Amino acid sequence: MNPEEQNKTMDAWQTSARYWNKYRVLIAQMFAPLTSGLVEEAQIRVGQKVLDIGGGSGEPSLTISCIVGPTGSVMYTDPVAGMVETAQAEAASRGLTNIEFRKCSADALPFPDSTFDVVVSRLSAMFFGDPVTAVREALRVIVKSGYLSFVVWGSEEANPFFTSVNDVVDRFVESPEPGPDAPDAFRFAASGKLARILKNAGAENVIERQLDFQIEAAMSFEQFWQLRTEMSESLREKMARLTPAQLPTIKQAAADAAQRYFVSEKMSFPAEALIVTGRKG
Ligand SMILES: C[S@@+](CC[C@H](N)C(=O)[O-])C[C@H]1O[C@@H](n2cnc3c(N)ncnc32)[C@H](O)[C@@H]1O
Repeated sequence: MNPEEQNKTMDAWQTSARYWNKYRVLIAQMFAPLTSGLVEEAQIRVGQKVLDIGGGSGEPSLTISCIVGPTGSVMYTDPVAGMVETAQAEAASRGLTNIEFRKCSADALPFPDSTFDVVVSRLSAMFFGDPVTAVREALRVIVKSGYLSFVVWGSEEANPFFTSVNDVVDRFVESPEPGPDAPDAFRFAASGKLARILKNAGAENVIERQLDFQIEAAMSFEQFWQLRTEMSESLREKMARLTPAQLPTIKQAAADAAQRYFVSEKMSFPAEALIVTGRKG
């Protein structure tokens, strides 16, 4: 990713931060299976020191702080000030004392070598400016044999939580395909792509696991539409290019596409993620 693209990504996340704060509770709930997957793959347990890269509105840091307990600790990191503030405020309101916060980017971690037992990152690797450098940094700051585990979205077709809205909007707004290294939710959807980056960066025993799960919450289509069109920078940008007359047509088409995932005010989308795990040699 070139520096201009990287600055644009950071600005977009700064704007997104207030929506990630607004939907913090739902985000934790909807993507909880991803946190469980990371905890399992990275074998996180009581007493460990865990680094979370790109922690957004607080997950998986907040959940992991309870798992490692008072004898362990979590270092939450994110390069976006608004995200750090949201996560920090939530930890304070819960009275968590084993979690620290640092504003920093994945490719320049401000920690000495071999500081942490484990590194995790949930849904953030797709936005790293230089993923190989970021993985090298992660390997540098974990202890020998320590695990690093990244979860990213699987294929677009298997993730109607995104496509039910995106595909409809794309029919109305011209949107070029993102390049293979552009920051995008599906940048690492191709099986093996992120695993190769871990291997190139020097990780050992690299394993990719596909996680099929349901994104669930008590939510109507109306609430889902608002959540999706607020949380996603690319959707916000595309929606701004629509005429007011186009909006009801698009929303109705998205409602038709998503209808079967909403029953009695409950949302349940099938979803696919990839968990890529390696170890420091
Ligand atoms: C999709 S959100 C995921 C947030 C959270 N981990 C979650 O699962 O809810 C992506 C996060 O990656 C962060 N991010 C973007 N570029 C990054 C970078 N270069 N290094 C670390 N994090 C980055 C964003 O600020 C944002 O908080």
